[in-house]
Amino acid sequence: MPQPVDNLFWDQSAVTPQQREAFLRQRGSILWFTGLSGSGKSTIARALEVALIRGGHLAYVLDGDNIRQGLNAGLGFSPGDRAENLRRVAEVAALFADCGVITLTAFISPTREARCQARKIVGRTRFYEIFVSTSLEACEARDVKGLYQRARAGEIPDFTGIHLPYEEPEDPFLRVDTEGRSVDDCVLPIVSRLRQEGVLLANLPPPAP
Ligand code: ADX
Repeated sequence: MPQPVDNLFWDQSAVTPQQREAFLRQRGSILWFTGLSGSGKSTIARALEVALIRGGHLAYVLDGDNIRQGLNAGLGFSPGDRAENLRRVAEVAALFADCGVITLTAFISPTREARCQARKIVGRTRFYEIFVSTSLEACEARDVKGLYQRARAGEIPDFTGIHLPYEEPEDPFLRVDTEGRSVDDCVLPIVSRLRQEGVLLANLPPPAP
């Protein structure tokens, strides 16, 4: 008889993750994009999502700005709130991956500790860390959302790269350098690596222009 934790029992599905994966012809996986605000995480994740769907694969993006307006509304940008933000995202991503979905998460996830925790939560064999390595200088020059300027002016506290550090991954599955490269040039190598890794079990045609 399994011992309950806090009077809770684990309820086991009769459908295995392997059965779902066979149904979808892909391995439920988490592609964990990390990088500074404005580095291109969401843009690349969105383009990759389109490429995967066009190739017949079920993919879904969990995006920091969006999740913070719903599930994680109320969490701020202190180190503790960011850790909780990412813990919840990892739990949700694990559920998506259990469903067989290729789950793309686009969060700054600035600390090695938080990314390590996410890897543990989702399981290391299906966790792929993708570092979008755009430099702070380039992100600040782009300043797509105008946030760097406001952070420099003291209007936004705890801004990553300005007031709080971003810890680069030491050994990511992939590093994506966006500077001077088109979105397609960033996405296609990721698709190839996913095929090599056996994440995509069916043939994936290249994305339409
Ligand atoms: S994380 O650090 O907890 O992983 P997350 O990816 O969810 O961050 O949210 C980052 C987004 O929130 C940024 O792209 C930006 O649009 C917005 N944002 C608002 N305030 C901050 C801040 N202080 N630091 C970084 N991003 C911020």
